[in-house]
Amino acid sequence: MKTADRLHSIELSLIRQINALATPYSVNLGIGEPNLTPDETLREMAARAAAMPWKYSPNPGHLSLRKKICEGTDFDPKSEVCVTAGTQEALFAVFTAYVNPGDEVLVPNPGFLSYATLARICGATPVSYDLDVPEWRVDAGALRKKITPKTKLIVVNSPSNPLGSVIDRETLQAIADMGVLVVSDEIYREIWYDAPPASMTGMGNDVIVLNGLSKSHGMTGLRLGWILAGAELMQPIVTAHQYIATCASVFSQALAEMIFDDRAWNESWLANMREQFAQQREAALYAMRHELDTAIEPPRGAFYAFVPVPACESVAFAKSLATDAAVLVIPGVAFGTLGQGFVRISYAAPVDEITSGIERIGRWLRAAGR
Ligand SMILES: Cc1ncc(COP(=O)(O)O)c(C=O)c1O
Repeated sequence: MKTADRLHSIELSLIRQINALATPYSVNLGIGEPNLTPDETLREMAARAAAMPWKYSPNPGHLSLRKKICEGTDFDPKSEVCVTAGTQEALFAVFTAYVNPGDEVLVPNPGFLSYATLARICGATPVSYDLDVPEWRVDAGALRKKITPKTKLIVVNSPSNPLGSVIDRETLQAIADMGVLVVSDEIYREIWYDAPPASMTGMGNDVIVLNGLSKSHGMTGLRLGWILAGAELMQPIVTAHQYIATCASVFSQALAEMIFDDRAWNESWLANMREQFAQQREAALYAMRHELDTAIEPPRGAFYAFVPVPACESVAFAKSLATDAAVLVIPGVAFGTLGQGFVRISYAAPVDEITSGIERIGRWLRAAGR
């Protein structure tokens, strides 16, 4: 059967290709999922959520949950928030609502693969804007120069997957003021080390903010995200969401409400989560210094380190590591051309696995004479 044209340029992602090389002996530092385990309170909330009615919610989600998501913002829960089946569905709904064939979508390079893929699925052209080593800063002036009459959307991701970098408030505001629709993917916003990252919430009428509970609460499989945008912008997004998902899982919506309601528990969960990732980040940075003789800018958010590797092609490097050293890392080019020469190491893993995985990489490099 001939597949639809919109999928023609879409290939199995490099992330999947590397994961396919995993064996029971592999140390997996390629994974993009937090290693968080629900505590007793969260499990008890989930049991209570499962006892709630199982019927459809309104398309944009239960109003009671939307009110909680909007707390502390100027957004109107009735018309300016949509609860989605994860942030991935939120992205798909926004692209479906706004991106036409022939449009251009500005995406970060290196950046999360979905942005360019979604642009292609919509028949648009992804146009990358470069992030500069070693801090992976966004140069707002250079980004502005990439805008053409065809530019429909600018995608911003802070903290970044795969870089762990954070964009400062002034740069975010400059992007919000460029007169182009902006999608700010803030899925890693709760995972920070020294200071909370700035949000684009409230930065102007052209800004659409995405977030969710996948990463902060280890709820990747429960598919709970949301979109915040002005009422006019939101209307077509809700229409798209209606035909993609109808509504987000009502179980996950009920659980999200309980999480937001128990403020004391949630604050302590978030503090513990940050402490856990801080320890794992330290273990990763220490092992890199000692095993790989590499010091990188410490990631300021999320749980990824983007690490330079000895001069070689990073896909071949990651595949050799997977097969010969039984360590999974993601080749940097999976995230754009500027990822060549880097691999993404995820430290969403127990400290002993981070340490032994990076040790294995070091040993393999020394044996290969690199
Ligand atoms: C930058 C970024 N945005 C969105 C997503 C999708 O998250 P969700 O599980 O909420 O769909 C991911 C998942 O890895 C991500 O890294």
